Amino acid sequence: MIRTVCWVSIAAAILLVPRGLPVLGQGDSLSDNQVLENITARQGETVFLRCLQGDAVTRTAWLNRSSILYAGEDKWSVDPRVSLEVLSKGEFTIRIEDVDMYDEGQYVCAIQTRSRPRTTSVHVIIHVPPKITDLTKDMRVNEGSSIALLCSASGRPEPSITWRILSPTARGIVSQDEYLEIPSVSRQQAGMYECAAVNEVSADVRTLQLVVNFPPSISKGKDAGVPLGQRGVLQCEAEAEPTAEFEWYKDDRRIVSDVSGIEIENMSKFSRLTIFNVSEENYGNYTCVAINTLGSANTSMFLYAVKVTEPTSSTLLQAVQDGNKSTTTAQASVCLLVIISIHTLLRF
Ligand SMILES: *[C@@H]1O[C@H](CO)[C@@H](O)[C@H](O)[C@H]1NC(C)=O
Ligand SMILES: *[C@@H]1O[C@H](CO)[C@@H](O)[C@H](O)[C@H]1NC(C)=O
Ligand SMILES: *[C@@H]1O[C@H](CO)[C@@H](O)[C@H](O)[C@H]1NC(C)=O
Ligand SMILES: *[C@@H]1O[C@H](CO)[C@@H](O)[C@H](O)[C@H]1NC(C)=O
Ligand SMILES: *[C@@H]1O[C@H](CO)[C@@H](O)[C@H](O)[C@H]1NC(C)=O
Ligand SMILES: *[C@@H]1O[C@H](CO)[C@@H](O)[C@H](O)[C@H]1NC(C)=O
Ligand SMILES: *[C@@H]1O[C@H](CO)[C@@H](O)[C@H](O)[C@H]1NC(C)=O
Repeated sequence: MIRTVCWVSIAAAILLVPRGLPVLGQGDSLSDNQVLENITARQGETVFLRCLQGDAVTRTAWLNRSSILYAGEDKWSVDPRVSLEVLSKGEFTIRIEDVDMYDEGQYVCAIQTRSRPRTTSVHVIIHVPPKITDLTKDMRVNEGSSIALLCSASGRPEPSITWRILSPTARGIVSQDEYLEIPSVSRQQAGMYECAAVNEVSADVRTLQLVVNFPPSISKGKDAGVPLGQRGVLQCEAEAEPTAEFEWYKDDRRIVSDVSGIEIENMSKFSRLTIFNVSEENYGNYTCVAINTLGSANTSMFLYAVKVTEPTSSTLLQAVQDGNKSTTTAQASVCLLVIISIHTLLRF
C-alpha cells in the first residue's frame, strides 16, 4: 500500500518537475530505494528531512504522500512551516516547523540521476503529550448510589489512564480504564480522585472531589459528674455529610445557647454544652440530637452531682473532671517525693 503510494508519488514528482525530465530508460532499476530510520518528534518541534544524493543528480524532490513539498529549490508546498534548509551537490534537506499529528507519515526524497531514479524514504512519527479532554465534574451523591466517573485523554501514543483515590482512609489505584464505576458508593469511598493520563512523552493529571452524603451517626454520650457551683461540660460527637446541626434537650425541653449561663458551641463534628455554674436543677438527663438533610440520630447522657470532700480548688476540680489522669500525676508526685527522701536519707 505504502509502496504504491510511494511510487505514485515518485511518478507525480517526475511528471511535475519542470524543464523536461528524462524518461526512465528500459533497463533502469527501480529498486534503488533507501529507507531511513524513523524520525520521532514532539508536537511543536522542528523536523529536518535530510536526503543524501550523489553527484550525478539532475532532479530532486521531497514529497509528502503524493504532493511535492520542494522540487529542487522551488517550493511547491503552500505550507509556511516548510522551508529549504540545504540544497547542495551532496545534500537536500528541508525543514518542517511546528509539526503536528497530521504531519505524521512517510516522506520521500525522489532523486533523478542521469541513469535512473532513486528514492529515500523516512517515516515521521509525531508524539503528542497527553491531555485530559473530558473529566467528570466534582460530585455529591448519597451513600448507596451507583456512579461512574469518566476520564478521557488525547495524546500520541495513546495515553494509558489510571484512577487513584487519595482519601485519607483509602489510597491506591482503583481503575486502569477511562471509566471508574462504583456500584454502591460508601462513605469510605468519598475523597479526592486523581486521573492520570500517561504516555512516553509526559503525563496529565487532574483530580475531582467525590462527596458522599450520609445521615448522622452519633457516638454514645458520656455521663459527667460535677459538684454544685462548678462548671459542667457535656459533649456530643457525630459523623455526617452534609455536616450535622446539633440540638440539645433536657427532659424533652430544648436548650438554647446564651440562656442562664449555658453555652452551646458547635463544631463540624461535635457540639459542646457548657453550664458555667451548675445548680441543682441542672442535674438530669440531657439528649443531643444530630440532624442533617438525610436524617437524624440522638444520644442521651446524665449530668450528675458529685460530693466535694474538701473546699474546692481548681486542682481538685481538674481531678474530678479528668478522673484517672490527675490520679497518676498525683501518684507520680508522691513517687518523686519518696525518691528524693531516700536520696536525702542516703546522704547521711
Ligand atoms: C517506523 O514506523 C513505522 C510506522 O509506525 C513502523 O511500522 C516501523 O516498524 C518503524 N520502523 C523502525 C525502524 O522503527
Ligand atoms: C503532509 O500531508 C498531510 C496530508 O495531506 C497534511 O495534512 C500535512 O499538512 C502535510 N505536512 C506537510 C509538512 O506538508
Ligand atoms: C453559682 O451560683 C450560686 C447560686 O446561684 C452562687 O451562690 C455562686 O456564687 C455562683 N458561683 C459562681 C462562681 O458564679
Ligand atoms: C449551635 O447550634 C444550636 C442549635 O442549632 C444553636 O441554638 C446555637 O446558637 C449554636 N451555637 C453557636 C455558637 O453557633
Ligand atoms: C433520657 O431522655 C431520653 C429522651 O427523652 C429518653 O429516651 C431516655 O430514656 C432518658 N434516659 C433515662 C435513663 O431516663
Ligand atoms: C432518638 O432516637 C430514637 C430512635 O433511635 C427516636 O425514637 C427518638 O424519637 C429520638 N429522639 C429525639 C429527641 O429525636
Ligand atoms: C482508670 O484507668 C483504668 C485503665 O487505665 C480504667 O480501667 C479505669 O476504669 C479508670 N478509672 C476511671 C475512674 O476512669
